[in-house]
Amino acid sequence: MIKGELLYEGKAKTVYATDNPDELLVYFKDDATAGNGAKHDIIAGKGIINNKISEFFFKQLKDRGIKSHFVEKAGEREMVVKKLDMIKLEIVVRNIIAGSLVKRLGLPEGTPLAVPIVEYYYKSDELGDPMLNRYHILALNLAKIDELNQIEHVAFSINTILRELLKAKNVDLIDFKLEFGRDKEGMVLLADEISPDNCRFWDVETHKKLDKDRFRQDLGGVEEAYQEILNRLTM
Ligand code: ADP
Ligand code: TMP
Repeated sequence: MIKGELLYEGKAKTVYATDNPDELLVYFKDDATAGNGAKHDIIAGKGIINNKISEFFFKQLKDRGIKSHFVEKAGEREMVVKKLDMIKLEIVVRNIIAGSLVKRLGLPEGTPLAVPIVEYYYKSDELGDPMLNRYHILALNLAKIDELNQIEHVAFSINTILRELLKAKNVDLIDFKLEFGRDKEGMVLLADEISPDNCRFWDVETHKKLDKDRFRQDLGGVEEAYQEILNRLTM
């Protein structure tokens, strides 16, 4: 596998072409941003840990019938993935109130939800990722109704699988963000990454935050928290 042209430099990852036109190489950086890029720092070793955690989750999901873009881990910070036509949506699933939902609903962080919530955001840095509902998505032609139904079903299935996996490691899955894309046959696959950058993980007993909120809220011990999640999942 040859690392080709740099195609896209994102906030947390860089995407390269490969010698296979159907595959890309994703490089996980140590950069962390919050507030749509307003806050930026380096979390030493984050890229290495997130590559490992994402590999772990994509493999576990595959074993349970969830198809993703993951092909193989290709280096400490590199993952080969299927090249997808990305659907410009961020799909957020929530089990417990935290983050933006605290502000929007005025309820305390940590309040359990009676049923999981799915939310859609338009993936646009310029607009600050505005929230959409199903009608916006269909009206703006961001996804077809069948694709949206599939995405929603798969997002809830992923929630059930990840919650169970994490609970066994004494971690509560508070919420998380997913991205999906279409392969060349038009099949919708899970893409991007699943890591402490785009999930909220709390220790079941102490409620200690083991995710990017440690960076967002200047709580310290960011690297240690990411490593702790990797260790709990894989050791
Ligand atoms: P951002 O674009 O939000 O700064 P990243 O730094 O994580 O995010 O960059 C990774 C980019 O790669 C994202 O824009 C994501 O949508 C895109 N991406 C993820 N998986 C794939 C894939 N399989 N094919 C094409 N693009 C992908
Ligand atoms: P929120 O509470 O800020 O809306 O975030 C919900 C979840 O989505 C949380 O696990 C963090 C994740 N997320 C991202 O991965 N990228 C983003 O741009 C945002 C806003 C949230």
